[in-house]
Amino acid sequence: MAAIFKWNIMKKITIAIDGYSSCGKSTMAKDLAREIGYIYIDSGAMYRAVTLYCLDNNLFTEEGIDTESLKKAMPDIRISFLLDKDTQRPITCLNGQPVEDRIRSMEVSSRVSPVAALDFVREALVKQQQEMGKAKGIVMDGRDIGTVVFPDAELKIFVTASAEIRAQRRYDELKAKGQDASYEDILNNVKERDYIDQNRAVSPLRQAEDAILLDNSQLTIEEQKRWLAEQFQRVVHG
Ligand code: DC
Repeated sequence: MAAIFKWNIMKKITIAIDGYSSCGKSTMAKDLAREIGYIYIDSGAMYRAVTLYCLDNNLFTEEGIDTESLKKAMPDIRISFLLDKDTQRPITCLNGQPVEDRIRSMEVSSRVSPVAALDFVREALVKQQQEMGKAKGIVMDGRDIGTVVFPDAELKIFVTASAEIRAQRRYDELKAKGQDASYEDILNNVKERDYIDQNRAVSPLRQAEDAILLDNSQLTIEEQKRWLAEQFQRVVHG
């Protein structure tokens, strides 16, 4: 009996959290990983880092992305994560250089979608993500984690909230940072990103058949945290 109990405590699983943009996936994934001592990987940050590489190396041309040069460069693009000792937040590094702030800029945000739609970019990043999750004990968030990266993940969550609520949250966030923002513009951007994510040819955003749907439109962060912790306990302890 004691042995089984111990095995349950030790058993590491893989947790895939997918969903729409700006629905708080990263916050919930990061918090859960910290609480249960798992590695947290923000797969969106990896697509953002490749986009930053393209910007820094002039791979965005008048005609679009210089895919030939990017394809050649892919083996030399190394993405890693450091943990900030003070904030306990992950810092994304591109070829050893911390780029966390730069990958969150509007310049990167507005160019990342076409980069994330390139099949050879996805192939390379999915491979790296699967390598990172080999030993389990990982929480990864993104768009295709439960469907493509870890189809065998023991716990899969698909997060959504209404476009209006997500836009309002983004608006409040920007206002709190003292940045000028138009609710209408943000709402249009949220809807546009939903459309691109759901309709791209390679790995479009969709809920895995065995994922649990979480609509957090009416949940506080605390309620959402509790809900997720319950799902984890249920899978690990049965
Ligand atoms: O979650 P995010 O906004 O940081 O994601 C940035 C971009 O990368 C966004 O266009 C969606 C895309 N993405 C993806 O295609 N697959 C993933 N697993 C994660 C993000």
